[in-house]
Amino acid sequence: MGTNSINGRGKSLVIVLTNVQDLRTNIYKQLLPSGIVEAQIESEIILMEALSLNKTALYSLSHVDLTRCQENKLNEIIKRRIQREPLSYIIGYKEFYGLEFLVDSRVLIPRPETELLVEEVLTLSSINSKCTLADIGTGSGAIAVTLSTLRPNFILHAFDISEGAITVAKNNAIKHDVIKQIDFYHSNLLEASTMKFDFLVANLPYIPTGRLDSLEPEIFWEPHVALDGGEFGIDLINELLIKFSNSINPQGFIILEIDHSQQQYLKTFTAREFPNINTVIKKDLSGCYRVVTIGPFM
Ligand SMILES: C[S@@+](CC[C@H](N)C(=O)[O-])C[C@H]1O[C@@H](n2cnc3c(N)ncnc32)[C@H](O)[C@@H]1O
Repeated sequence: MGTNSINGRGKSLVIVLTNVQDLRTNIYKQLLPSGIVEAQIESEIILMEALSLNKTALYSLSHVDLTRCQENKLNEIIKRRIQREPLSYIIGYKEFYGLEFLVDSRVLIPRPETELLVEEVLTLSSINSKCTLADIGTGSGAIAVTLSTLRPNFILHAFDISEGAITVAKNNAIKHDVIKQIDFYHSNLLEASTMKFDFLVANLPYIPTGRLDSLEPEIFWEPHVALDGGEFGIDLINELLIKFSNSINPQGFIILEIDHSQQQYLKTFTAREFPNINTVIKKDLSGCYRVVTIGPFM
């Protein structure tokens, strides 16, 4: 067993540490001063990544012999993370609805609350449903790819204004073997299509511009085009509802992710624009209004 020391940023990167628990504590102590809230969980993920171990293997080991390559990888991950680069970009993936999605700086890292959009579609359909669905602002493809795996008879169309995002989303569709089930479009909202859909699902950028500066530093690594929703965060949602609500089939639904602050506006907007159509706004697990469902449109 060696002595315990990982030297951090600015020092020589020497690791001679072999006790797993000490190693984890050491990573934790390096992350903490940078203000990383989930330093405990992240130190574990970093260790698993650097040592190519799963959780079970990590917990069953008391000591490890680090190779030079593993040492370098560990130090590189820590160095990037304490600069507040999101861990998902460093390790290259993020779990969403139980699936692993490839992510890099071309796409927003999928968030747990977006799983509620997937659940809403699942609730409004059945395993055998043959529906058409548009995922507008697909990003990593998290929504479209997940739904393709759970609704094998759906025909999916995924749209994004970012070519880089479309490339990442296609890679995720290949990874999960659903590439034949999804058509991808480089498009402003639904402009590239004249189809009508049973579901329009969108997690468009909805952060008010003025709030962006006050968010955690990790946000600045993510694409601006995935975050900034204009003065009140509602520009693209408005544009979608105004220009493309005729792209929905009579029995169809529009399902949107919103910011908590937009709930009252959307209630008023839908009551005025779609007076005879049901609008339901649900909260996420932290009690914030998050998912708007409008429909059916008949
Ligand atoms: C908040 S991210 C959501 C990504 C993904 N759907 C998710 O939930 O993780 C918003 C996405 O919308 C895309 N986007 C922004 N403006 C758009 C527009 N005018 N038309 C189509 N997509 C747009 C961005 O490139 C980004 O990928």
